[in-house]
Amino acid sequence: MKLDSLAIKYDNGLLWVLDQQALPQQEIWLECHSIDDMCAMIKALKVRGAPLIGIAALLALMQYVTKGATIEEIKIAIKQLVATRPTAVNLKNYMQVLLNQLTTNVEVVFEIGQKFFLEDITLCENMATLGAELIPPGANLMTCCNTGGLATAGSGTALAVIKKAFQQQKVKHVFPCETRPLLQGGRLTAWELEKANIPYTLICDNMAAMVMAQGKVDAILVGADRIAANGDIANKIGTYSLAVLARFHQIPFYVVAPYTTLDSTCASGRDIVIEIRDPNEVRGALGKLSWTPEQTQVYNPSFDVTPAELITNYILDTGIFNPASIHLAINESRTIEKLSI
Ligand code: MRU
Repeated sequence: MKLDSLAIKYDNGLLWVLDQQALPQQEIWLECHSIDDMCAMIKALKVRGAPLIGIAALLALMQYVTKGATIEEIKIAIKQLVATRPTAVNLKNYMQVLLNQLTTNVEVVFEIGQKFFLEDITLCENMATLGAELIPPGANLMTCCNTGGLATAGSGTALAVIKKAFQQQKVKHVFPCETRPLLQGGRLTAWELEKANIPYTLICDNMAAMVMAQGKVDAILVGADRIAANGDIANKIGTYSLAVLARFHQIPFYVVAPYTTLDSTCASGRDIVIEIRDPNEVRGALGKLSWTPEQTQVYNPSFDVTPAELITNYILDTGIFNPASIHLAINESRTIEKLSI
């Protein structure tokens, strides 16, 4: 079986990941040989983005089966993979679906891996089509983190909407926020915008208010790592600030996510576990530079929670929702079953 996307490739038991820590300076494909390799790559954000983390875990399990893994070994590997990053729910959702079906036959790993990989491509396309309808002609857009083809098996979430609206000649300019500390906006979104020939101007995260106040932003689009039952979302740190600023400046704030990011078992944003990362990510940049006194105390939450009341619309693959109607999407049948891991 062969599966191929911008950032991950699987070919009959062989698995490669495009190293997102080396981008955009170098395009290096890293070979994954084991579950341990994949766990290390996910933790180091060599492969990242809520949907892609889940898909990468599935492909690593497929590889494991080609090496002769038993059902018991797969169950242990699932636990190990789920523990890599706690906030993005897609990984847990995919692993739960797999666990539910993993009874007698390891072949189910291939079925589910392929199904979610291919489905994610369609989900991205649906979000892009629905979301582009909300973008007015001549729009100036702002986004943060990376929500494109590097974060999914398809064209992306928020960035896919931007790309689709650009193809429809509705996008004038994009302001990606650089997204400290790991610079997914400055490195990865800039790389994708460049490749798509979309005009953009990179800003530091603390410039967003000024750019909005100057009337340069018509809409803000972000992704989500988890959408709780009450519509609160967890997304890359800095998303909440953008949502607050959007409300003050009366700019529409759109959250773009597939159904695999919904978590009906999580009542509100308060119940979402936020990943706290290595202080050195804040003491310097990308392991190459360090500018603080060596032991400077650091707080490094990788995500924040944006309350539902600050969200104008949720652009899901199934339709457009708002804070009053998002529960309908969450209750709908395609929502992934209750998590037990
Ligand atoms: O830490 P990362 O780079 O994995 O964080 C990614 C994000 O926060 C994205 O906005 C999110 O996964 C949704 S877009 C696919």
